[in-house]
Amino acid sequence: MRRLHTFIAIVGFGVLVPVAITYYIWHGGKEHGINVRSKQYPVEFMTGFTETFKKTNSRPSEADVRTFHMEKYCYKLRKQLQEERVKISQFKYILYDDRYKTLFCQIPKVASTNWRRMFLILSGKMNTTDPGQLKSFDVHKTYDKHIKVLGDLNPEQIRYRLKNYFKFVIVREPFERLLSAYRNKFGNLSKSNLYFHKRFGRRIVKKYRPNAKEQSLITGSDVTFGEFVQYILDPNRKEPLNEHWTEYHKLCLPCIVHYDYIGKYETLTEDSAAIIDRMRASDVIEFPERSATYHHKKTENYLYDYFKHLSPKTMLKLWKFYYPDFLLFNYTLPKSLHNLTNLANYL
Ligand SMILES: *[C@@H]1O[C@H](CO)[C@@H](O)[C@H](O)[C@H]1NC(C)=O
Ligand SMILES: *[C@@H]1O[C@H](CO)[C@@H](O)[C@H](O)[C@H]1NC(C)=O
Ligand SMILES: *[C@@H]1O[C@H](CO)[C@@H](O)[C@H](O)[C@H]1NC(C)=O
Ligand SMILES: *[C@@H]1O[C@H](CO)[C@@H](O)[C@H](O)[C@H]1NC(C)=O
Repeated sequence: MRRLHTFIAIVGFGVLVPVAITYYIWHGGKEHGINVRSKQYPVEFMTGFTETFKKTNSRPSEADVRTFHMEKYCYKLRKQLQEERVKISQFKYILYDDRYKTLFCQIPKVASTNWRRMFLILSGKMNTTDPGQLKSFDVHKTYDKHIKVLGDLNPEQIRYRLKNYFKFVIVREPFERLLSAYRNKFGNLSKSNLYFHKRFGRRIVKKYRPNAKEQSLITGSDVTFGEFVQYILDPNRKEPLNEHWTEYHKLCLPCIVHYDYIGKYETLTEDSAAIIDRMRASDVIEFPERSATYHHKKTENYLYDYFKHLSPKTMLKLWKFYYPDFLLFNYTLPKSLHNLTNLANYL
């Protein structure tokens, strides 16, 4: 009897433990994570860049200047960003197209719907090549199955595409995108916003509004910009931020992906044309013209009206929060907000 116990104990430890450890390593390493080494940069990174172009006697293109600028800050911020090891699920905002060998990181409120339209048309599954025919709802819901994202692949497949594909992202001045997201989700009542009011609004009102009215607690539909910012900056916030307001570097992992082209919302039409050219897709897709109701200008004009409710202290915190995005993509505090803070002294 005792022998049997000993035998069971030995088998238990000798077999089960190694199996458990192997299982853990296998799954921890293969399924849930991916190791991506950052590029190593010489310290004199930008000097080297300039020298290269002096030697070849050519001018770096605007696009090259932007990517080199980003790489420089990837190097400077490498400790802070800690992107050495990321989860596969973190690649879920990066779309890919195997035929055109292209990757695109989709940032909500930064022309993402139109760029999804481009990818849908390229997929060959649409009956039209006119982006205007694809309704916004269908683009995000009905046709979702025709959009491919890196996050659904295995590490080997991800690494292959990162290495061999043309990679681009489109960014926008971070505070403007933040306000655009707030206005879009909390600025008014519409059916599609109910989810955001229930999911975030109610909690924000409950947590950050003393003596909130019963009605506000139930609907969560009258969150102020100040409360919204308080929620974002709360050091005790446990949940990660929603994709509409999380930092670009968390959504798009620029220092792992090493984008070849950084498009800007401020120059969307030109940049999109250049990107389509680089993809060699100009005979299939054309980026829609900007309409007369040009959202960028609109939000920009509103900035001061919303941000003026934030204290200089909160402004400073918010600036620090999005600082890596400002740095990586070469943005500064919008002029209209300068007099709300003494930040301008540091810029
Ligand atoms: C950064 O932005 C400023 C202002 O828009 C511009 O003058 C400058 O050339 C940019 N620098 C880089 C490295 O892109
Ligand atoms: C394209 O047209 C076919 C036939 O009319 C239809 O069955 C299919 O659902 C359409 N595809 C899309 C994406 O609308
Ligand atoms: C209000 O919601 C509608 C529908 O979603 C949208 O078209 C409109 O731009 C929104 N207004 C503001 C100020 O965000
Ligand atoms: C700050 O600047 C904004 C727009 O640039 C202006 O409307 C506002 O009156 C200014 N506020 C103060 C206190 O100077």
